[in-house]
Amino acid sequence: MSKALSGVRILDFTHVQSGPTCTQLLAWLGADVIKVERPGEGDATRGQLRDIPGVDSLYFTMLNHNKRSVTLNTKKPKGKQVLESLIKQCDVLVENFAPGAMERMGLSWEHIHKLNPKMIVASVKGFGPGRYEDCKVYENVAQCAGGAASTTGFEDGPPVVSGAQIGDSGTGLHLALGILAALYQRTHSGRGQKVLAPMQDAVLNLCRVKLRDQQRLERTGSLHEYPQYPDGKFGEAVPRAGNASGGGQPGWILRCKGWETDPNAYIYFITQAAVWPAVCKVIGEEGWITDEAYATPQARLLHLKPIFARIEQWTMTKTKFEAMEILNEFDIPCGPILSMKEIAEDPWLRKSGTVVEVEHPTRGKHLTVGNPIKLSDSPTEVLRAPLLGEHTDEVLRELGYSAEDLELLRAEGAI
Ligand code: COA
Repeated sequence: MSKALSGVRILDFTHVQSGPTCTQLLAWLGADVIKVERPGEGDATRGQLRDIPGVDSLYFTMLNHNKRSVTLNTKKPKGKQVLESLIKQCDVLVENFAPGAMERMGLSWEHIHKLNPKMIVASVKGFGPGRYEDCKVYENVAQCAGGAASTTGFEDGPPVVSGAQIGDSGTGLHLALGILAALYQRTHSGRGQKVLAPMQDAVLNLCRVKLRDQQRLERTGSLHEYPQYPDGKFGEAVPRAGNASGGGQPGWILRCKGWETDPNAYIYFITQAAVWPAVCKVIGEEGWITDEAYATPQARLLHLKPIFARIEQWTMTKTKFEAMEILNEFDIPCGPILSMKEIAEDPWLRKSGTVVEVEHPTRGKHLTVGNPIKLSDSPTEVLRAPLLGEHTDEVLRELGYSAEDLELLRAEGAI
């Protein structure tokens, strides 16, 4: 069966997490992704956080599925020549080097555009144009600069970064979307273009509701669904809201049976207005259905803490899975706090292809996260990540290099 991006060739000049997330996604959608790495060392993540000595790390193998790896020293004239032939043959170049690195390699947009006017050049940078544009950036820097950290955590604690890699993988997703749009526009315009996804901007996009709340706070001086209301004080900026729901339906994380020993025996509970009578019945507080202090969403905002404390008395008598079953019968929105162990073992995620077991030649079997985006006409096959330089000869032969050329390039250290 053909794939959505069959025939699209990507020159993958990415490393670490943000860029590789993007190109891995494009590979799952069917693009031929050729990852260019430095001879001898390759992407730094191959050697980071290793769990098996001498074997490509899970960090690398879980971010580089379905790609081909070519080793090329682009700072040697012959290596740069090979890169330029790749540029002429590919549709998209994706890179996430530090600001200025591409130019230092002699690969300005103008130069690339001259070599291949149809090429799309897509970049992740930490910041867009402005005071920090020259800075190197990693995940947590982006979470802090994009508004996520200042709005995450509890009101009496410091800013907190999230386990979700919204700075890296979140930006990779944004970049992939930009690339697809540019590929589509090219079908009409015939021209390539630059695509830029700054990590600060991508994080802010994911924190959109907090900028909403900043403006609400400035207008009204208070945010009624935040735990600071009604007893605490609001300052000038959106405060950290603990586990309060970001939407108009109040929610909180509540302890379940076993919480004393299991750090994940919790459930997220949302007191959606539509099912308030059902919530009252389940916890045995039928009186709250008509009691003026609790009957309307507006009235309940004044009593969220005692309401959740009472619901928690009930959830603590059930495991998170028992509570899920009971609450779902009544259509009450809730969610178990699943540990990574539970997710790794989840049979439904395995069945959907979102958690996949992959065989790797040097590390053996390992688990990975497959393509979370499901297309009915473009199924995803999750293939193992390439070994360093595994496809150098194959790709260069496709570019027209002979066996003798390859020997020469190898002797010069260009590949
Ligand atoms: N052949 C020869 N040289 C190569 C090469 C190749 N195949 N691939 C990379 N290089 C060189 C680059 O040209 C650069 O050299 P220069 O410093 O002389 O210009 C060098 O390798 C290192 O690149 P750099 O990007 O500076 O790596 P770093 O390890 O110092 O920094 C980041 C890593 C992630 C901080 C930085 O790349 C960055 O800020 N990227 C943009 C934001 C980003 O994506 N961050 C998230 C990462 S998950």
